[in-house]
Amino acid sequence: MSKTKVQSPIFAGLDIGSTKVVALVATLDKESGLNIVGMGSASNTGIRQGVVVNIDATTAAIMKAKEEAELMSGYQMKEAWVGVSGSHIKSFNSKGMVAIKNKEVTKHDVERVLEAARAVAVPADRILLHVLPRDFKIDGTEGIWDPVGMSGVRLESSIHLITGGHTTLQNAMKCTEKAGIKTAGLVLDQLAASMAVLSEDERNLGVCVVDIGGGTTNLLYFVNGHVAHTSVIPIGGHHFTQDIAVGLRTPQIAAEDLKKKYGCALISLVDESETIEVEGVGGRKSRTVRRRELAEVIEPRAEEILQMIYQDIRDSGLLPFMGAGVVITGGSSAMDGLVEMGEFIFDIPVRRGVPSRVGGLTEIIKSPMYATAVGLVLYGYDQYKGKLMGLKNEDLSESIAQAARQLKGFIGKFF
Ligand SMILES: Nc1ncnc2c1ncn2[C@@H]1O[C@H](COP(=O)(O)OP(=O)(O)OP(=O)(O)O)[C@@H](O)[C@H]1O
Ligand SMILES: [Mg+2]
Repeated sequence: MSKTKVQSPIFAGLDIGSTKVVALVATLDKESGLNIVGMGSASNTGIRQGVVVNIDATTAAIMKAKEEAELMSGYQMKEAWVGVSGSHIKSFNSKGMVAIKNKEVTKHDVERVLEAARAVAVPADRILLHVLPRDFKIDGTEGIWDPVGMSGVRLESSIHLITGGHTTLQNAMKCTEKAGIKTAGLVLDQLAASMAVLSEDERNLGVCVVDIGGGTTNLLYFVNGHVAHTSVIPIGGHHFTQDIAVGLRTPQIAAEDLKKKYGCALISLVDESETIEVEGVGGRKSRTVRRRELAEVIEPRAEEILQMIYQDIRDSGLLPFMGAGVVITGGSSAMDGLVEMGEFIFDIPVRRGVPSRVGGLTEIIKSPMYATAVGLVLYGYDQYKGKLMGLKNEDLSESIAQAARQLKGFIGKFF
């Protein structure tokens, strides 16, 4: 990232979504923290359910978003943190156990136990994206986060590993590179989104963040402040649009417009007397229909999506640990009535998450559809803070450093 204006670090995020690409540029202000100074957005047809299906279309969308963000900010976007998602993402928990050498846990014991947990074979066609330590156990006592200095005989560790398909990630990076942007790092979309919309209290109490985008719904679970589980459901806002187009016999573009302007997930929330204009297909005249008819098309799909989310929460086995409930975000979470229906189905608190923790262009990015992009710059800032504090990869456990090196090597091959 070139510094043409002032000598302050700059962070850029690139969210390559199923419906749009968002590029964000942020600068660091000593007093106000991270400030968003440039934003570019371009609709994208080259991604299906989080995965690149058309390199040229995706590259063109990235270039357009990049140019807009550069123009607005006055900075050149040479490097960015890139979000990834899709059903090629697989995550799993792993455990390791070692004997504590001198009856008191040392840093070396922690490294050994994390190494033992990480020593699961990651297939050659997958890239390890994140190694997230969960907690430690000493002689059966759970919930220990910093075990160094504690007495015991047996040390156990639990970590969460997130991997992505090699070729799928390569395609996303190919588009980024073709658009003239170097990949600073690859970040799981919902991990980024969680950084923008969750409070520390929520993370500690236990929360599930659900990013309902255009083509996919991405979930991330926090238990005791740490990531415990991630998953992807291949369904999103695009399904509402299709239902509306078929149900109300209107073109896709008009259906998308109706959904955003008048859509509501709960029929009971819509006034019976309200009417809307619906464009006809194939040159047919527009019709006036009750807004309730639109809600009648949306409600069953909303219920289906929320039931699938509920099923995922139950299958994860983490429902009893979701003290802070569910936070829905992503463009489709803007739909009226979704929070209310979610609370009814999940029977735990639900709120809509909009990006916060940044300054600058807050009015522009104050929408759930920018959660991932804002989270990406926050993630970049966190990595920078880690480096400032002298936390080099080598200071982390060797196993995490190894994963970071592998990912760096993978990214490095492109340049
Ligand atoms: N006000 C609104 N009401 C309902 N849906 C909306 C609203 N605003 C945006 N959407 C929907 O949000 C979806 C896009 O969300 P988002 O921008 O988070 O997706 P994406 O990141 O491009 O896709 P994905 O994350 O699935 O790859 C679209 O289907 C869009 O129609
Ligand atoms: Mg998205």
